[in-house]
Amino acid sequence: MGGILVTGAARGIGRAIALRLAQDAHDQGARAQLTLLDQHAAELDVVAAELQALGARVQVLAGDLSGLDFAAQAVAAAVQHWGGLDGLVSNAGAAFPGALSDYPVADWDRTFALNTRAPLLLAQAALAPLRASGGSIVVITSVSASHATPPLGAYSASKAAALMLVRQLATEWGPLGLRINALSPGLIATPGTALAYADPAAKAHREQRVPLRRIGEPGDIAGAVSFLLSDAAAYINGAELVVDGGLTHTMMASLPQQAWQDQAAQRRLPQTAAAG
Ligand SMILES: NC(=O)c1ccc[n+]([C@@H]2O[C@H](COP(=O)([O-])OP(=O)(O)OC[C@H]3O[C@@H](n4cnc5c(N)ncnc54)[C@H](O)[C@@H]3O)[C@@H](O)[C@H]2O)c1
Repeated sequence: MGGILVTGAARGIGRAIALRLAQDAHDQGARAQLTLLDQHAAELDVVAAELQALGARVQVLAGDLSGLDFAAQAVAAAVQHWGGLDGLVSNAGAAFPGALSDYPVADWDRTFALNTRAPLLLAQAALAPLRASGGSIVVITSVSASHATPPLGAYSASKAAALMLVRQLATEWGPLGLRINALSPGLIATPGTALAYADPAAKAHREQRVPLRRIGEPGDIAGAVSFLLSDAAAYINGAELVVDGGLTHTMMASLPQQAWQDQAAQRRLPQTAAAG
């Protein structure tokens, strides 16, 4: 059995994914073998201790995935440590806010380096070991891949490119026995989005926009990642699993609809009278 590499595992969604994979293995009477990668070394150690308490075996790798070399080095280290690789979760990502009218090119480049290039470099490095194990890749994209998200600068464009990267890799590598899927979270409360929920009124406003009437928890994403990595998803390849409580289907419902509501009320009147 090889390991599973989770990037951005010190906080938020990545941490929840690692915890979920450890819990899954524990529930099956097994021990997960997890490589946790993040730029925050001290926080990684805290998560590693949480995972070990669930019986998981853990390797931690601290470094910056925006660089050109770290992705391949990390995959090689994981493969060497576990003797193989069973899965890759490309989760680390970030947004550098700003209007596009004068968006700094350095922010554009670092957004794409992390959100788009790193998933490619990780996947390239993982190709041979995942081919050997029959493992799979999940890339955490975003509902912003399909919906413009001002004022998050290059974020939407970088996630849209990552989504197409997943589709193309699925097409190229499916014949090799690999599955690659995208998971697009909606509104999830994490350290990375804490600012958006600091104001209770802003949080309540966002909750009202979600059909399930709540902001998602990191665990909501982790469960879906666990599914995509599992044999239950054996025929799912190149898919985008949107996990957003229904948020992205609400565009028409968010428009003023009074005229139609009035007409609906009028249409009901005669029937009500007849029934009475
Ligand atoms: N939270 C949301 O609402 C939401 C919605 C859609 C998509 N996403 C995506 O989910 C993923 C996780 O988001 P989150 O909300 O948990 O974020 P977060 O900021 O809470 O956690 C991200 C983790 O990635 C690590 N990381 C960031 N840049 C890195 C780098 N250059 N090298 C190594 N590690 C790095 C951070 O240190 C952190 O531990 C991201 O790809 C994000 O775009 C989040």
